[in-house]
Amino acid sequence: MGAGRLSGRNAIVSGGADGAGGAASDLFAREGAAVAIVDIQREAGEARAEAIRARGGEAFFVEADVSSADRVQAAVVEIDRRFGGRIDILFNHAGTLVVKPFLETTERDWDWLMAVNVKSMFLMTKAVLPSMLRHGGGAIVNTSSISAVAGTPMEVLYCTTKGACHMFTRAIATEFRDQGVRCNAVCPGFIRTNHGLRELQQLRGYGVDVTEDDLRRLQGRICEPEEVANAALFLAGPEASFVNGETLFVDNGMLVRT
Ligand SMILES: NC(=O)c1ccc[n+]([C@@H]2O[C@H](COP(=O)([O-])OP(=O)(O)OC[C@H]3O[C@@H](n4cnc5c(N)ncnc54)[C@H](O)[C@@H]3O)[C@@H](O)[C@H]2O)c1
Repeated sequence: MGAGRLSGRNAIVSGGADGAGGAASDLFAREGAAVAIVDIQREAGEARAEAIRARGGEAFFVEADVSSADRVQAAVVEIDRRFGGRIDILFNHAGTLVVKPFLETTERDWDWLMAVNVKSMFLMTKAVLPSMLRHGGGAIVNTSSISAVAGTPMEVLYCTTKGACHMFTRAIATEFRDQGVRCNAVCPGFIRTNHGLRELQQLRGYGVDVTEDDLRRLQGRICEPEEVANAALFLAGPEASFVNGETLFVDNGMLVRT
């Protein structure tokens, strides 16, 4: 797709079928990357890859649950082969949430959410890094959240997973910096995606202060998926060449208000 900020790069977007991950798949491809979309939603993933190709971009879909070690391994082997043995960018975006009073949460909720939000980053990063290291480095972007540092009632498990995403990002950055790998995180506020709208609806159901008025006060307005994708593009691209181990908040100033 001609020149672009990710021209000639091979990128993986987990959770890239829909939501902000979908917006990133589109944007990375528009900026010249070949994009491997990894998601559990086959139909949506195939459709997005097809739409990118129809616009002249390069993309394909690989179905995988990123919380499963076997599926991640098989997916990354396939992607690495299709990319000719070179993966430059990994956007670990797939994730989900549990909204419940803490005392009603179960061990199963904990294990599932930790697996989808945190173990997935461990599995994907571990599978992809050898390919990056063979070629002198790469860029990893993880999706964290304002919830990594701002506690929300009914979201103890979710907040805990995002705290882990924050620290995973920083620790990977320190271990692999000198081998040419950068690892950063995007940390969005509420985004207009299935995840974000469901979260707002469920929190409101429990009487948490996230009405339309609260949202305006907190972050001005809802964040659009493309705004998260733009931040991820910056972190994944050459303009962030000296940005490493950072957590970039995409929240319109929510967290800097006291
Ligand atoms: N929406 C928000 O308000 C908000 C705010 C902060 C952070 N986030 C983070 O963004 C990510 C969610 O993305 P979104 O808001 O774009 O929501 P979304 O629900 O629209 O998209 C999530 C995508 O991830 C995929 N996915 C979910 N579980 C998966 C799994 N096990 N394996 C592979 N793919 C899987 C889904 O199929 C979907 O395509 C999460 O990491 C979430 O913590 C969202």
